[in-house]
Amino acid sequence: MTEGDLVDLVLAEQERPAWTAAQFAEELYHSCAWQFVACHGETSRFVGYICCRSVAGEGEILKFTVIQDFRGQGVGNLLLQSALQRMAEEGASRCYLEVRDSNTIARNLYEKFGFRQIGYRRDYYSSPREAAVVYKLNIAKGGKAK
Ligand SMILES: CC(C)(COP(=O)(O)OP(=O)(O)OC[C@H]1O[C@@H](n2cnc3c(N)ncnc32)[C@H](O)[C@@H]1OP(=O)(O)O)[C@@H](O)C(=O)NCCC(=O)NCCS
Repeated sequence: MTEGDLVDLVLAEQERPAWTAAQFAEELYHSCAWQFVACHGETSRFVGYICCRSVAGEGEILKFTVIQDFRGQGVGNLLLQSALQRMAEEGASRCYLEVRDSNTIARNLYEKFGFRQIGYRRDYYSSPREAAVVYKLNIAKGGKAK
């Protein structure tokens, strides 16, 4: 991800309350942060992104979106697998994330990768107010579940 992606990132966020361009820019230059952008093979069109951090043996997924027209085609799988592989390369043995309780699609994806629920934060999100489910994955070499 680079500053050149900021317009696409903000457009991809319009579906729901989300990060501003300034927040993405801050994340770009955070010392523990890194990101991947997915682009369509033929057109190079921006189709999704994942924002992560890794530090002291732990990885975290902060934001993860595939744009609507490209969902259900394996892009989410690819971004998540790439992120977990990078965390493993950086020596992370665990990955954490939070997701809205009602987000069945994302929860299916995380559970398919072996993430297990370790917490539940009532009223964590606003607009609309909703609980967060906290997930953890023990990462093996290659970014697979341990
Ligand atoms: C969650 C999200 C990133 C998944 O991206 P995607 O490209 O559509 O996902 P994929 O096509 O790679 O599918 C991966 C898995 O997600 C789950 N999934 C995808 N579409 C689904 C659907 N319509 N219903 C149920 N599960 C679904 C399945 O487990 C699927 O695995 P499978 O293909 O082996 O069945 C995407 O839906 C999205 O951007 N949602 C809005 C933002 C969001 O919720 N981000 C996560 C916040 S933590």
